[in-house]
Amino acid sequence: MLLITGGAGFIGANFVHHWLGANDEPVRVLDALTYAGNLESLAALRDDARFGFDRVDICDGEAIAALLRRHRPRALLHFAAESHVDRSIHGPGDFVRTNVQGTFALLEAVRGWLGELDPAQRAAFRFLHVSTDEVYGSLQPHEPAFREDTPYAPNSPYAASKAASDHLVRAWHHTYGVPVLTTNCSNNYGPYQFPEKLIPLMIHHALAGKALPVYGDGCNVRDWLYVDDHCRAIARVLEAGRPGRTYNVGGRNEVRNIDVVHTVCDLLDELRPRAAGGSYRQQIAFVADRPGHDRRYAIDAARIEHELGWTPRETFASGLRRTVQWYLDNQLWVDHVASGAYREWVDLQYGSARDEVLRTGAAS
Ligand code: NAD
Ligand code: DAU
Repeated sequence: MLLITGGAGFIGANFVHHWLGANDEPVRVLDALTYAGNLESLAALRDDARFGFDRVDICDGEAIAALLRRHRPRALLHFAAESHVDRSIHGPGDFVRTNVQGTFALLEAVRGWLGELDPAQRAAFRFLHVSTDEVYGSLQPHEPAFREDTPYAPNSPYAASKAASDHLVRAWHHTYGVPVLTTNCSNNYGPYQFPEKLIPLMIHHALAGKALPVYGDGCNVRDWLYVDDHCRAIARVLEAGRPGRTYNVGGRNEVRNIDVVHTVCDLLDELRPRAAGGSYRQQIAFVADRPGHDRRYAIDAARIEHELGWTPRETFASGLRRTVQWYLDNQLWVDHVASGAYREWVDLQYGSARDEVLRTGAAS
């Protein structure tokens, strides 16, 4: 049995589908169902005896300890987090609470429970912490990609909270011998991603006839990985990763934001042409930059490639096509998550002035 925190979120839900598609071993999802958690992403598993769910906040150490005793998992995979950089700029408190205090509470619950097991069971257990490349900070164009020994230099409240959680995980291994594994992955995209992140937001806004807000000059670079490739990497690290070690995960696939948006527009032009004619590119609007916006991320994935034999299967072209098609085929999922609370977020982050840019034709 695997316990999976944050399994109702984007990557967690993809991981659950991936795992149960390939394994008989049951999973139990622990999730608080914040705005980002959505049981509809797991609806296909409702009647699957291998799947279970508990609504629980990871900051509630007593509840986590009780669930560990009840389910006796062989591993805990920790996806749960506040994950959106722009939200962390508006309200960093939730990020410190869930990402730092929540990870601390989980580690303490696990440490206490492991103390009740015999040494062989303890050694076989794994705490797999799912983290991000943002802990390494921002790269200049000429700098080499992030390696596992690149010094931490987090710039956003989100990145700082994830960096803190990584340090806690490392210390609980070093001091208490908890068998931990950490993955630091680059930007994911694919099905079930909440439409606050770049790619699903662009698809959603394009289809709604709204402005496509590109921050700053649009030349910030991200290293994109299709979510199923990330799930395969996590499964491989769980299977063969060395306790105490960290593994960078990325697709060696650096793309400028404006090029991502252009490609999304071109795919939509092909798959769902605008009723009014013309290209979705006409909806692009350059807007004010994100404060402290990291310029470039890039992952050196040599360790996981050479030690564990992992490589991505999807190219950016094939993965983005699948993703756009998934959003076109699953409009109901998008309509349900784009609730009142989502609209409030879009108003707060993008305001009405940015739609004005589109209406006045300032966008090109
Ligand atoms: P997400 O925001 O889509 O999902 C987060 C999930 O965690 C949601 O289901 C939410 O309900 C749950 N959650 C939040 N606070 C909780 C709490 N206090 N207790 C229990 N559950 C809680 O996030 P995601 O994009 O799926 O990211 C998953 C993990 O992967 C995160 O740790 C993130 O830092 C990391 N990561 C994400 C990316 C990416 O591109 N999205 C890349 C690298 C690493
Ligand atoms: O690198 C891994 C990280 O990738 C994860 O740890 C985070 O959880 C995940 O949210 C993501 O962070 P980013 O900030 O890179 O992703 P986001 O989709 O928010 O933005 C991607 C790029 O696009 C970034 O340079 C900002 C830009 N952007 C984003 C939005 C939402 C825009 O230009 N316009 C937008 O409206």
